[in-house]
Amino acid sequence: MNQHHVYGKSYKGTAAENYQRFFVPAIGAPVADDLIAIADLQPGERVLDIACGTGVVTRLAAERVGATGSVTGLDINPGMLAVARSATPPHLSIDWREANAESLPFPDNAFDVVLCQMGLQFVSGKLTALREMRRVLERGGRAVISVPGPKPPLFAIMTDALARHLSQEAAAFGDLVFSMHDIDEIKELMRSAGFGNADVEAKPKNLRLPAPADFLWQYIHSTPLAEPATQADEATRAALQREVCERWKEFVEDDFLSLQVGMTTATALK
Ligand SMILES: C[S@@+](CC[C@H](N)C(=O)[O-])C[C@H]1O[C@@H](n2cnc3c(N)ncnc32)[C@H](O)[C@@H]1O
Repeated sequence: MNQHHVYGKSYKGTAAENYQRFFVPAIGAPVADDLIAIADLQPGERVLDIACGTGVVTRLAAERVGATGSVTGLDINPGMLAVARSATPPHLSIDWREANAESLPFPDNAFDVVLCQMGLQFVSGKLTALREMRRVLERGGRAVISVPGPKPPLFAIMTDALARHLSQEAAAFGDLVFSMHDIDEIKELMRSAGFGNADVEAKPKNLRLPAPADFLWQYIHSTPLAEPATQADEATRAALQREVCERWKEFVEDDFLSLQVGMTTATALK
């Protein structure tokens, strides 16, 4: 057991800072490479990255479209945007906007490409957000949206333990992350939003995550789970770590956790 964590207590920084430091290298960046490959961005294109978080996709998009293109990263959480700004090298010019995906502060037909990686599942008005994505796209422009799920066994173990040791609300966050993966449901949503020609495809993604106790606390401290976990007493955090790490043994390979997660990607033209 990794005593140096003091059961996660030693993690400093905001959830947004930890998201960039831990979640992005382990999960966000490898998944972004796939989304960017599908988007096939061209120099000069105007790109909007919705629910951009700390900007892993946004920065890759800015590299691709170059100085003749333009890239906007939009998120509802100012803490994520502050980290996004500070993680962006000076040679990339990105317009960071704080707004809700359900009400985009842009005119019609303003972008060639709209991207949204692992964000739509958190938006309560999904149909409204998809209609907004379509509205701001130029005719012939494309939307590329990815969502994770169904909940992989490794995360089912974590949410079980969160429910038992922290709260039902904490477990519900784990459920929400993987709540949008039904291909027919996504196709229907896209159709209702006006995308007549959506292609929706699910593919497994293999990820190599840090060792169990490291990944458990890194994930918790990169998400809204940080608050309830920090408020829990040490015995509770120790019990949570003990249970999760014991049940994660079957996913350990050479001290790393091996995760296979389904990624569903929807692509559509306006
Ligand atoms: C898991 S993060 C994904 C961030 C980034 N796309 C990535 O792949 O690293 C989900 C993001 O969705 C944002 N979000 C949730 N609801 C939103 C909404 N209604 N409008 C805009 N952003 C939202 C959150 O603030 C968070 O930054």
